Amino acid sequence: MGGQSRFSKNIICIGAGYVGGPTMAMIAAKCPQYKVTVVDINAERIDAWNSENLPIFEPGLYEVVKQARGRNLFFSTEIEKAIKEAQIVFVSVNTPTKTFGEGAGKAADLQYWEKTARDIIRASDTDKIIVEKSTLPVRTASAMERILNANDKGIHFEVVSNPEFLAEGTAVADLENPDRVLIGSQMTETGLKACKEIVEIYANWVPAQKILTSNVWSSELSKLVANAFLAQRISSINSISALCEYTEANVSEVAGAIAMDSRIGPKFLNASIGFGGSCFKKDILNLVYICESYGLHEVARYWENVVLMNDYQKRRFVKTMIRTMFNTVAGKRIALFGFAFKANTGDTRESPAIDVTRQLAEERAKVVITDPKALDNAKMDLQSCLEFVEFCEDPYEAAKGAHAIALMTEWNEYKKLDYQKIYSQMEKPAFVFDGRNILDHKLLFEIGFNVFPLGRVPLTHL
Ligand code: UDX
Ligand code: ADP
Repeated sequence: MGGQSRFSKNIICIGAGYVGGPTMAMIAAKCPQYKVTVVDINAERIDAWNSENLPIFEPGLYEVVKQARGRNLFFSTEIEKAIKEAQIVFVSVNTPTKTFGEGAGKAADLQYWEKTARDIIRASDTDKIIVEKSTLPVRTASAMERILNANDKGIHFEVVSNPEFLAEGTAVADLENPDRVLIGSQMTETGLKACKEIVEIYANWVPAQKILTSNVWSSELSKLVANAFLAQRISSINSISALCEYTEANVSEVAGAIAMDSRIGPKFLNASIGFGGSCFKKDILNLVYICESYGLHEVARYWENVVLMNDYQKRRFVKTMIRTMFNTVAGKRIALFGFAFKANTGDTRESPAIDVTRQLAEERAKVVITDPKALDNAKMDLQSCLEFVEFCEDPYEAAKGAHAIALMTEWNEYKKLDYQKIYSQMEKPAFVFDGRNILDHKLLFEIGFNVFPLGRVPLTHL
């Protein structure tokens, strides 16, 4: 259909979320010769993509969207029409962990994907390339290919895997200059042809040596494994942070020392209250489930421990708070600085702050939450314990009358606050629990705070 328009390719993406929106905006910005349409069942989301207030907060994204929107980038709810006109269909709908039935709590819930496959069959009357963008269990592509090609219209669908490695908060930079782009296809003639078409898109701005092709299963598995390895590094350093607190070692010094071994390298070694985000836990559980389904129980346990260590770190943090605040936090006001799962995003999916808040609410503390971008999401996440929670935009107000501050998210602005002023308005003794080790602990101690970093000896006046 592209032939009748001024565009050389007609690309669509089903699912206008954290992955689909930014990825398609970048493709459209870099390739004015293609028509790129992003569709979603959620009309509110589409309206937001068409407005000045994008539905997700991502530094630099609005500039990219603005450059292409209305020119060759379109956001729409007309899914059927878009599918009909497209030659290439990216699918980026959600694949949450199943909450019911076989594999509940581990396996990926593929209902949105399968529904999309059926939408694609219904609306299509020409051959299409279907690109898996959502992270899916290995071998999903071939299952999808079977569903799609069971159509009785004689249409051929070629499914390729093109996992997205962008991280939130740095999505624009990651898309503009990716470490690699991975495209997996069947090794058949039609598979390799489809792969070449997708390579062509990225080759508009990504250097050829960074575009990697593989078989479809390697591509699907690589995405899960990349996330599992990254999460494993965080759980590893977090496990060491617990040991440091007992041995007077300093986890940052240990991390710095091992990081200089070029085989280990410096990234993803910051001890924290735990990793969050929509991918790490989900993808590891997915890996665990697949291993189990093949009877690889030892392999499954090995990866499952990465998630268990993460849960332990969150519980350990709250336990330290309760123990140091004289074994009770009931009725005490505790200010949480940050709620997003990391800085520079409003996303709170799997944020450790959710568990910390729930545990503190169970202890009947009064939790006051502040965050520059994530308060709306926080309100939705905490529906079950609202009577113990307050939300406050201004960190100074949040800390007023509080017994403790617990820093959850490494927002830069929290480093720059006037902690002398904050201290003067808090209950005494005043505590700081730095879940990200980003504050100036010595200065806080000198002001009068009792400071509890992660993986370091506390600085206390008690
Ligand atoms: C991750 C992967 O990085 C990305 O490649 C993939 O496409 C999606 O999943 P994202 O979830 O956006 O991206 O965030 P990431 O920057 O990886 O951080 C995940 C979590 O780990 C955050 O909660 C972060 O605070 C935490 N983290 C990260 C640490 O606790 N310590 C570190 O050293 C690094
Ligand atoms: P991700 O982080 O993987 O991008 P999101 O949850 O942010 O996931 O986005 C997934 C998007 O997919 C949501 O906006 C959701 O409304 C959309 N979606 C889910 N199912 C369908 C479907 N059948 N058709 C179109 N869009 C869908």
